[in-house]
Amino acid sequence: MATFAPMKLIIFPITFLLLITIFQQSKAALDAHYYDQTCPQAEKIVSETVRNASIYDPKVPARILRMFFHDCFIRGCDASVLLDSTPQNQAEKDGPPNISLGAFYVIDDAKAKLEKACPHIVSCADVIALAARDVVVMSGGPYWNVLKGRKDGRVSKASETINLPAPTFNVTQLIQSFSNRGLSIKDMVALSGGHTLGFSHCSSFESRLRSFSSLHDIDPSMNLELARNLRNTCPKPNLDRNAGQFLDSTSSTFDNYYYKQLVVGRGVFGSDQSLFGDYRTRWIVGAFANDERLFFREFASSMVKLGSVGVIENGEVRVKCRVVK
Ligand code: HEM
Ligand SMILES: *[C@@H]1O[C@H](CO)[C@@H](O)[C@H](O)[C@H]1NC(C)=O
Ligand SMILES: *[C@@H]1O[C@H](CO)[C@@H](O)[C@H](O)[C@H]1NC(C)=O
Ligand SMILES: *[C@@H]1O[C@H](CO)[C@@H](O)[C@H](O)[C@H]1NC(C)=O
Repeated sequence: MATFAPMKLIIFPITFLLLITIFQQSKAALDAHYYDQTCPQAEKIVSETVRNASIYDPKVPARILRMFFHDCFIRGCDASVLLDSTPQNQAEKDGPPNISLGAFYVIDDAKAKLEKACPHIVSCADVIALAARDVVVMSGGPYWNVLKGRKDGRVSKASETINLPAPTFNVTQLIQSFSNRGLSIKDMVALSGGHTLGFSHCSSFESRLRSFSSLHDIDPSMNLELARNLRNTCPKPNLDRNAGQFLDSTSSTFDNYYYKQLVVGRGVFGSDQSLFGDYRTRWIVGAFANDERLFFREFASSMVKLGSVGVIENGEVRVKCRVVK
């Protein structure tokens, strides 16, 4: 017996420390049942609001999906993307690639209803995460359980949107940008599938159409017919600031058509097309192009990962998503 005593002395503090770590982590960790007791209607309120808004404005789903991506990539998923600028501070939403995020009113509507049903409970960051799942489901994509319990941040800086990946990035730069947030190559390729929805302005891809490089006038990775069409869509000079191209020919349906387009050189952004031009990602594009169910599964699991990027512990639950409390 005596020989066990020292073991116990060692094991006890180790177990104790382990318990403490587990306890502390579970405090910060997100949870699928976070609002089960405090606001059981939360998910229903968000999905009904998003659904109704999308009927009136078909641009809403793509905008909300992109909003979630931007939120999580800048300062983590903390709803910093929703804060309005103030006289002292220019916020993210007024930063450089601010075109087309504008579905903020939908989040405002959902939040107002949530404040009536269960005041000061549901964070704006969780509303975006739920809405992003809902728009994917509504558009024909996969369902996943959204983990909740995010807190809202108090800081939003236009200058930080420079840290979003650019549509001119090559695969090395894309991998770096995602791995900085703990996201893998597979996550990056799967999440890029978000471009199965939505629209891009000419400014995001027109460098591929003319004077692309010293050797090539047109980006050689772009299908020539697409390049000719896009030159018509985006003439130079371009008087129409709203001109642009749908990212996928089935742009309001969430499907794997985006990957099929990459295989035939019809990706709109250089960043999209580069995924098929590099051995590290080409096989994943091929797999998703061939198997929509595989893409759906991987997209769902990568969205859960994206939703836990940089989640903060010492934030607040805003009352209105546009202003800090
Ligand atoms: C991989 C790096 C990414 C780059 C370089 C990128 C870049 C862009 C650009 C330049 C636009 C067009 C903006 C415009 O001209 O209006 C856009 C639109 C969009 N992006 Fe991405 N994006 C990336 C990843 C993602 C991810 C991970 C998602 C979501 C999962 C996403 C969802 C969207 C959606 C839905 C749109 C269409 C928005 C609309 O129609 O209003 N993107 N993206
Ligand atoms: C549905 O959306 C429209 C447009 O955003 C809004 O005017 C209307 O009040 C909404 N209805 C419900 C029941 O939320
Ligand atoms: C984009 O940002 C500018 C300020 O930098 C602002 O004036 C403009 O309203 C923003 N556009 C949108 C669509 O939010
Ligand atoms: C990608 O872009 C970076 C930065 O512009 C550059 O250093 C690199 O050589 C490029 N090419 C590849 C294949 O990674």
